[in-house]
Amino acid sequence: MHQTGVRIAGVGHYVPTGVLTNADLERMLDTSDEWITTRTGMKERHVAAADEPTSAIAYRAALNALANAGREAADLDCLIVATVTPDYAFPATACILGAKLGISGKPAFDIEIACSGFIYGLTVAASLIRTGVFKRVLLVGAEELTRLVNYKDRSTAILFGDGAGAAVLEASDVDCFLAAELGADGSNPENLYLPLSGTAGPPITPDDVEQRRNTIVMNGREVFRFAVTKMIAATNVALSRAGITADDITWLIPHQANRRIIDAAAKHLEMPTERVIVNIDRYGNTSAASIPMALSEASAAGKLKDGDVILFVGFGAGLSWGAVAWRWHMSTNGKIP
Ligand code: ACO
Repeated sequence: MHQTGVRIAGVGHYVPTGVLTNADLERMLDTSDEWITTRTGMKERHVAAADEPTSAIAYRAALNALANAGREAADLDCLIVATVTPDYAFPATACILGAKLGISGKPAFDIEIACSGFIYGLTVAASLIRTGVFKRVLLVGAEELTRLVNYKDRSTAILFGDGAGAAVLEASDVDCFLAAELGADGSNPENLYLPLSGTAGPPITPDDVEQRRNTIVMNGREVFRFAVTKMIAATNVALSRAGITADDITWLIPHQANRRIIDAAAKHLEMPTERVIVNIDRYGNTSAASIPMALSEASAAGKLKDGDVILFVGFGAGLSWGAVAWRWHMSTNGKIP
């Protein structure tokens, strides 16, 4: 089989301008800045405008990633959007994004695996390139989870924000994909799910909408316990597959769901705080967008150097989880075969 390398050639992100602070939430709910900060590490999150669907913020992030890569939309062979908050149940948001980018006709599809979306997407996009199917793929994680939140439920309302992050992946002489570990267990979907949103259960009624029964439901403690365990386990498998150890990780870029989850996983992996990328204070949990947003910010801040090893790790509804070990090689153009 034809096999080539893959690298990330550019990254970008975008957040809507609306901001929801802990002080705002204090006015809406029986909560406090102190509780939210100590239990989650969050201070504020961004909220999309009513006329700003997921494809709109995905588009802005995509343009930023393309500019960062020095590429045009016309250079892309395929578009992938990781999201659980698509513009519509169908068509795929990636199709709409393709039209916005002026490249209708190019293959485009969504990956729906919640907060693990970017990790799964990275594995799929890298595989499509390494096997020679495509030379250049745009992968976007874009979410507007604030639309699915019940702002009367303090246990979930405080957690989520909107945003998008994107990466341009392309064929390269240098192979940056080191290893992946992905997993899912759907035996208890109600631990984290959106009721009344699909074909399971009765049709949604006006009363359901009135009572906000069609909003995120989560067993926070169960998800917390699962998250720490799976982040550590997935990281260890990915590292072992890559033939490296935690000492070889230059940057840990975890899904930003809860500062305490990140700290617990980092502590277990003996990763010093300064090597863990965290931006949860400013964005909250942006699901599939959180990892590419953190990556884009780290790149823009000049933190990432060619040769660095990045460990992406995440978890989410499914329940699902994944880790990818990746070698950063952006500034030097790998020759395209
Ligand atoms: N403000 C004040 N008090 C609160 C709030 C709030 N916003 N929310 C809950 N509490 C109260 C509870 O009612 C409870 O009170 P009680 O002791 O009188 O019963 C107390 O605080 C403790 O509640 P816990 O649920 O035990 O709090 P915990 O420390 O577990 O933190 C949290 C809750 C932040 C939700 C945590 O469990 C968590 O982060 N879990 C993981 C969430 C996650 O990662 N989700 C991923 C979703 S991504 C996706 O795929 C869509």
